[in-house]
Amino acid sequence: MPESQQMTFEETVKTRRSVRGFLDRPVPQKIITEAFELAQLSPSNSNIQPWQVFVASGITRDAIRELLIAQFNHGFERNSDFSYPERFDGPYRKRQIDCAVKMWTEMGITREDKIGRISALLRNFELFDAPHIAFFCMEKSFTATVAVDLGIYAQTLMLALTSLGISSCAMGSMRNWSDIPREIFGFGENLGVVFGMAFGFEDTALPVNNLRMTRSPVTECVTFKD
Ligand SMILES: Cc1cc2nc3c(=O)[nH]c(=O)nc-3n(C[C@H](O)[C@H](O)[C@H](O)COP(=O)(O)O)c2cc1C
Repeated sequence: MPESQQMTFEETVKTRRSVRGFLDRPVPQKIITEAFELAQLSPSNSNIQPWQVFVASGITRDAIRELLIAQFNHGFERNSDFSYPERFDGPYRKRQIDCAVKMWTEMGITREDKIGRISALLRNFELFDAPHIAFFCMEKSFTATVAVDLGIYAQTLMLALTSLGISSCAMGSMRNWSDIPREIFGFGENLGVVFGMAFGFEDTALPVNNLRMTRSPVTECVTFKD
C-alpha cells in the first residue's frame, strides 16, 4: 500500500502480525514518537497509566543484544520479575505447539532438530536483528489485573506502528533476564519487566516472515447468551 494511503482499521488489524526478522535500518524518531503518542491514548483502569516503557536503540540496543546473547549462550538462570505458566494444557497447549511448529517449518527446522530449535530460540535474544527493543514495565506490586492495561497499550502501539509502516513482535522472552534492561536503563527494583517488543522495518526476504498464524473461530472463545 502506498505510504500516502491510509489503512482502514480493519486493514490495520489484519496487516499487523509478528515479524521475526528486521532490516538494519533505524526507524526515524519522529515516527517512533508518533506511535507512542497514539499508544499513550490507551485506556487503563482509573486512568492510572501503569506502563513505564524503556526503548533501546543504537549503541544501547547493541549492548542489550550482546548481553542477552551471552546470557542465553551461557545458559544463565533467568531472573524474571513476573512468572509465566511452566506448561499449558488442552487447547492452549495445542495452539502453543502449533505456533512453534509453524514457525520452525518456515525456518526449515523439524521438531526433532534440537540444535535448530535452539538457534530459533536464540533469534529472540538476537532481537530478530530489530534496531529497536522496548521493555514494558510496571510496579512489581501490581497484579495481573493491572498488567491487562499494559497489554492494551502494547496492542495500540503495534497497530499504530503498523499504520505507520513499521513491523513489530511482542516478546515475552524479554522477561527472561530483566536485570539487563534494569541495569542499562537504571530503573529501580520497584519496576518489573512484563514483556518486550522488537520493532523496525520488516526484512521481507526472510522465510520466517512468511509465517501467518490463524485464529480459532469466535464460537470457540466467545459465549453469547440472549
Ligand atoms: C505478550 C506476547 C509475548 C510474545 N512473546 C513472543 C516471543 O518471546 N517470541 C516470539 O517469537 N513471539 C512472541 N510473541 C508473538 C506470538 O507468538 C504471536 O503474537 C502469535 O503467534 C500470533 O501471531 P501473530 O502475532 O503473527 O498474529 C508474543 C506475543 C505476545 C502478545
